[in-house]
Amino acid sequence: MADAALPPALVALLGRLGLGGDLAYDPWWSAAPDFLGLIVEHALAARPETIVECSSGTTTVLLARCCARNGRGRVWSLENGPEFAARTRAELARHGLAERAEVIDAPLIAQTVDGCEFQWYDLAGLPERPIDMLVIDGPPGFIQRHSRYPALPRLYHRLAAGGTVWLDDAARPDEREIVARWQAAFPDLAVEFIANERGCAVLHRETRP
Ligand SMILES: C[S@@+](CC[C@H](N)C(=O)[O-])C[C@H]1O[C@@H](n2cnc3c(N)ncnc32)[C@H](O)[C@@H]1O
Repeated sequence: MADAALPPALVALLGRLGLGGDLAYDPWWSAAPDFLGLIVEHALAARPETIVECSSGTTTVLLARCCARNGRGRVWSLENGPEFAARTRAELARHGLAERAEVIDAPLIAQTVDGCEFQWYDLAGLPERPIDMLVIDGPPGFIQRHSRYPALPRLYHRLAAGGTVWLDDAARPDEREIVARWQAAFPDLAVEFIANERGCAVLHRETRP
């Protein structure tokens, strides 16, 4: 991650979490401070036991810190890039959060989802357990069209009662199309769009499976 002066909103968030101001942060690749604020506030309020992430990085460290503050919960973060996985693990260790998050080496593998071919995370390393909070910030959009689409077909059935899904970059045309595809595929899906810097879609089931 690039060394950059941290945005004031992120500094405030780190202060709220007692994390100090020395977090690795990349203004282009890391989630924006307002998205980080949303998932942090939700994690502190809802006290999820199991958080699963598609992509690792700043989100992982902050969510792991929320679990530590809550005294419960753990993050499982799917990461396709070994170098990014190593960086996130180092950041977790540096902040004493290694017990609160596991970065799973999850290479992107070819898979057919709803009749379309995708390169998406290998889920072999992800334990089978109900997911209370699912944060989707990868794989990167340059990999393919609708890069993040497989997340719900692959993981929605694992959502716990009351579980929520948080999609970053939801204002982009590609992500808007992904959300529309999800709504068509999962008619019981309730979607809230938050018009922050890059857009955030918050999703949950209106009925139980
Ligand atoms: C949008 S990033 C989000 C990472 C994480 N959620 C965060 O907030 O830091 C999604 C993925 O892009 C990849 N990535 C991160 N930094 C990158 C870089 N500088 N160049 C190319 N890919 C990168 C990693 O595989 C990461 O999982």
